[in-house]
Amino acid sequence: MMEAEKKNTEDTPNSGLRIDIVSCVPRLLDSFFDHSILKRAKDAGHAEVVIHDLRDYSIQKQKQIDDYAFGGGAGMVLGIETIARCIRNLQSIRVYDDIIYMTPDGERFQQKMANRLSMSKNLLILCGHYKGIDERVREHFITKEISIGDYVLSGGELPAAVVSDALIRLIPGVLNDETSALTDSFQDNLLAPPVYTRPADFEGWKVPDVLLSGHEKKINDWRMEQSIKRTQERRPDLLH
Ligand code: ADE
Repeated sequence: MMEAEKKNTEDTPNSGLRIDIVSCVPRLLDSFFDHSILKRAKDAGHAEVVIHDLRDYSIQKQKQIDDYAFGGGAGMVLGIETIARCIRNLQSIRVYDDIIYMTPDGERFQQKMANRLSMSKNLLILCGHYKGIDERVREHFITKEISIGDYVLSGGELPAAVVSDALIRLIPGVLNDETSALTDSFQDNLLAPPVYTRPADFEGWKVPDVLLSGHEKKINDWRMEQSIKRTQERRPDLLH
């Protein structure tokens, strides 16, 4: 086995979601996944994110992973040979529910997609860089292409982190209060209502009385009204 193949073969301790992310700038992602709820999710065995350096799979002396585009122009393109070695190696260890490529021309990432993907066991996410990847990778290996919005970032790492965060927080037990992911904005196509904490009066700026009333039904009704009002004002498209 080559060095890269020996690494990262351990399984997620408990059943949960495992995400393998393949990147040519893996250090961009390290600190993100070593902090916040993602670290807690990992420590509790709910989820595991393993980052793989694409260069480890290059067989070229200089560990080159990109090349000029056939036909000229277009800048450097990530080549199929190294990516194929990497994906095939990972596939020899586990079966992936999806092999995802982060790209601005993919399907727009939304809460519904997050809900669906969070039920996966194993996901592989390939981060693009430079002017993209050889189209044959997309045709023959990739099962899902995801965009996080209509703007172009310089690589797929931040989008991969965004998607991983959105999925992992949905796994039961990851958030302290299990209902809190269910009351997020976009679940039920409604934006979340405003929230307040102490003090109830800050320099005359008061918290709505109903929230201090202790009357659960009234509070829930108020929150629903506020959600609908907010959605109408800010994102009427969600209501159609
Ligand atoms: N890579 C570069 N820009 C991206 C975007 N908007 N979404 C997903 N991947 C990307």
